[in-house]
Amino acid sequence: MINRFRSWIGPKEREQMSGPAEPSAENVPQHIAIIMDGNGRWAKKLGMPRIVGHQSGMKAVKRATIAADELGVRYLTLYAFSTENWSRPKEEVDFLMRLPQEFLALELEELIAKNVQVRMMGNMENLPEHTLKAMREATRRTQDNTGLVLNFALNYGARRELVEGIREIARSVEAGRIRAEDIDQEMISAHLQSGDMPDPDLLIRTSGELRISNFMLWQIAYSELWFTDAYWPEFSREHLREAVAEYQRRTRRYGGLK
Ligand code: FPP
Repeated sequence: MINRFRSWIGPKEREQMSGPAEPSAENVPQHIAIIMDGNGRWAKKLGMPRIVGHQSGMKAVKRATIAADELGVRYLTLYAFSTENWSRPKEEVDFLMRLPQEFLALELEELIAKNVQVRMMGNMENLPEHTLKAMREATRRTQDNTGLVLNFALNYGARRELVEGIREIARSVEAGRIRAEDIDQEMISAHLQSGDMPDPDLLIRTSGELRISNFMLWQIAYSELWFTDAYWPEFSREHLREAVAEYQRRTRRYGGLK
């Protein structure tokens, strides 16, 4: 059937009809952000406690990092703990707070060897000391690395981030350093915790949920969205490559016409 129409369907349609394509080396998204979801459901499916899902989720973090690096992605932001996640049972929160430390104990040397720069965004105030210590050590030891930026959103909430940023700008207005008219989109972006990073080109969410859940609300204004039913612990190199290939097939119009 496809063959009959080969002469007049374009390469893009042909690719769409023949299943997932491999991503090309051109037009790789600079910044990919991921809402890692479904750890609990994955564990439940296997009759195991939720924390087993989080533990496996940590392995998927490694897979996603390697796959992103391999593709030449510059920034990978992972939503590891939201400001709303504190409402979970204490044992689960404690477990989640130990994961960054465990991940870094296992992987930091390798991340350093791969020239990865570790960063963190979110509210540092009420993170346990041991979590902060591990993250600070990783950010310090990798700060001069020039490869993939692996950015963990930890105790992160976009609305809070916006409130903090806007407060800071308001203080400058109050102090007479700037006028209200000077406030523009660049200024707001610069006052967010993503700082000098470009906005995500591609936002991925796993587990079949179709929500943004207070994640990078300002920064994803023009991001391409990609959803998969796979639970986060199932997320593989192939999922990332499929998402990037799909991204490359889309035409970003930024509200205009192409
Ligand atoms: C959502 O799944 C996932 C989280 C709240 C935690 C995400 C954390 C990891 C994947 C591990 C982080 C690793 C490092 C290195 C920081 P869920 O528990 O909400 O799943 P559910 O919706 O199925 O209940």
